[in-house]
Amino acid sequence: MQDNLSELIEVARIAARRGGEQTLEYFRKSIKVELKDDDSPVTLADRMAEEVMRTEIFEHYPDHGILGEELGHSNSDHRIQWILDPIDGTISYIHGIPLYTTLIGITIDDKPAAGVIYAPALDEMCDGAIGNGAYFNGEPCHARMTSRMEEATLITTDFVNIKKYGFEEPFFFLHDRCRYHRTWGDAYGHMMVAAGRADIMIDPVLNIWDSAALLPIVNESGARFTGLNGEERIDAGNAVSATAGLHPEVLSYFND
Ligand code: IPD
Ligand code: CA
Ligand code: CA
Repeated sequence: MQDNLSELIEVARIAARRGGEQTLEYFRKSIKVELKDDDSPVTLADRMAEEVMRTEIFEHYPDHGILGEELGHSNSDHRIQWILDPIDGTISYIHGIPLYTTLIGITIDDKPAAGVIYAPALDEMCDGAIGNGAYFNGEPCHARMTSRMEEATLITTDFVNIKKYGFEEPFFFLHDRCRYHRTWGDAYGHMMVAAGRADIMIDPVLNIWDSAALLPIVNESGARFTGLNGEERIDAGNAVSATAGLHPEVLSYFND
């Protein structure tokens, strides 16, 4: 790994941890929930956590770009961009469910280079940098080797968006071929594929701040992260993380 990338990932770990710790201040406490233009919920905790992460990153790299879900885009011309989602899984967060995460993805020259997923309420961190493997709580982690659909554990965030975004038919075709089904969703679901705890995670709708951290981590774990069309991109608008053995078959259901 380039020295530069190892420094970046170290700062990303610190910033994700600080942002995540900030979210705990309001977790399972009464907090006002507002609705954004797209009807998704947001809280003061989302904005405060992003502020903490931005401060940490700018202290180290004042000229780098930062794109955050809640607070916009700074230094958008810089070749290194930090892409932040301070609380991924806000619906889990406002229900007091600990499966929400704080996300940081780093791109260099528009290519995904590294990512950190931190689940503050569980104190679980998964990170990865291209060419340097994936790590779960500091130990190397590897996706499962599952290659038979009838042995697979399939996860997704909810069934509402599967239907809303038009994936009902291929999704349930896949669903009926898998052994187990759960909705441990949002970024946590992708992290479970990277950590070897589940085989397939389907997300029918994603923004770039939802995906940027996921691609490097999942791909470095030995699984594959792509859009549902098979393109390895963080701006595909949806995603599948799946074991290397299952990924081609999953894609065939969504594309044939
Ligand atoms: C959500 C999660 C989810 C995705 C939604 C996002 P949020 O993020 O990333 O997996 O399907 O599109 O809005 O709003 O909880 O940060
Ligand atoms: Ca998100
Ligand atoms: Ca969010």
